[in-house]
Amino acid sequence: MSKVDVLLGLQWGDEGKGKAVDFLAPKYDIVARFQGGPNAGHTLEFEGKKHILHQIPSGVFRQEIINIIGNGVVIDPIVFQKEILNLKSFDIDPVKTLILSNKAQLILPTHKLLDKALEKQKGESKIGSTLRGIGPTYQDKMGRYGLRIGDIIESDFEAKYNKLKSQHVAILERLGFVEDFTVQEADFFGSLEILRKFKIQSTEYLINEAILNGKDILAEGAQGTLLDIDFGSYPFVTSSNTTTAGACTGLGIAPNKIQDVFGIFKAYCTRVGSGPFPTELKNDEGEELRKLGNEFGATTGRPRRCGWLDLPALNYACMLNGVTQLFMMKADVLSGMREVKVCYEYKIDGHTTRQFPYEYNNYKYQTIYKSLKGWVVEGIPTFDNLPSNLLSFVHAIEKSTSVPITMVSLGPDRSETDFRK
Ligand code: GDP
Ligand code: IMO
Ligand code: MG
Repeated sequence: MSKVDVLLGLQWGDEGKGKAVDFLAPKYDIVARFQGGPNAGHTLEFEGKKHILHQIPSGVFRQEIINIIGNGVVIDPIVFQKEILNLKSFDIDPVKTLILSNKAQLILPTHKLLDKALEKQKGESKIGSTLRGIGPTYQDKMGRYGLRIGDIIESDFEAKYNKLKSQHVAILERLGFVEDFTVQEADFFGSLEILRKFKIQSTEYLINEAILNGKDILAEGAQGTLLDIDFGSYPFVTSSNTTTAGACTGLGIAPNKIQDVFGIFKAYCTRVGSGPFPTELKNDEGEELRKLGNEFGATTGRPRRCGWLDLPALNYACMLNGVTQLFMMKADVLSGMREVKVCYEYKIDGHTTRQFPYEYNNYKYQTIYKSLKGWVVEGIPTFDNLPSNLLSFVHAIEKSTSVPITMVSLGPDRSETDFRK
């Protein structure tokens, strides 16, 4: 029996999805990215080397499997070209194993300019976008103006490009944001040549035929549930559905084909960019977490904001995604702390709640914490032999979410991974 499993982030991104996908990939025939684009930075470490992927699925180092960039993704060909060249320096040439959906949207140089201009216009209330053109590209998709990867092999591509570019330039001029982009435009057209070397097709057929033929598929999410366009801390979110539902629309997979949903979370929380973060530690403890966890963005290098684990938010994410297994990442980062805190409810106007509030953007609520005893972990003990305080932490989260934690990650390397038998 074929299976489709989904792996996605339950917090504000950067939970360790890249590492987890790379680890699991050999169990699958296909790994497929279903949303987001070059705003993502997925880190993989093995054999003493570190790799950061932005648009290419994290199964790419397992050369025996097929990797797909699905229709829900937005692709920047310039970033794609860089990723391919980088892979080549590690003797990986995915031209035969990486397939692109003809329906994935194309990020134009002017989408990136629009991202900058719109963020500038927002001033203090800016989203903190990665400025990779994500919002404007999804806006064009929904507005039905967008260009798709399938268009780049059509003879009228340049005309379509010029038409959309003119629309963008008109908006940029209205916004008073005029920047020369001839160099970026030349890079863009140059990089399309690389893109054209890859198989571009209706990957929804490929995926569904694979399902019929008994193949196993892992759908890889980007960002995290709390950045979801519908359910995240709107408007401080990304512009796609980062939840399990996004895997259906972003790949063309029917909901009843999905089996396991692996929900990835850190043993604490981080966030890059603006927006509410109830358990944020704006003090030395937060600084310490950032240092210990090396919490700097894999895409932009920005320092990540750090704080304690937020159980109401984690429960919300488990509910929205139908998580069947939890993977807890970076438990090693908390090693050596005397106590570890978890937020288990919020207090708003004197009332307590365990629901992720609609008024998430105003800080008129308190976070109520429980303290648990810290742990010291050395090496990679088997799951049952993890320090008892770490196991108590695991059990407390399982009790709150009613979902089993089946993996604990204790370091960035592929090998530093502890699966529950
Ligand atoms: P992603 O976007 O979800 O793939 O996560 P990122 O790659 O942006 O960020 C996760 C960071 O944590 C990367 O630097 C990983 O190498 C690192 N990492 C992943 N798992 C662990 C872990 O268990 N322990 C430690 N210390 N680092 C980890
Ligand atoms: P991965 O896949 C963490 C954040 C940005 C910003 C908001 C909107 O590596 O987990 P966008 O560029 O999408 O318009 O930015 O979302 N953001 C991420 N934060 N990890 C990511 O991806 C992110 N992708 C976007 O910082 O706050
Ligand atoms: Mg990341």
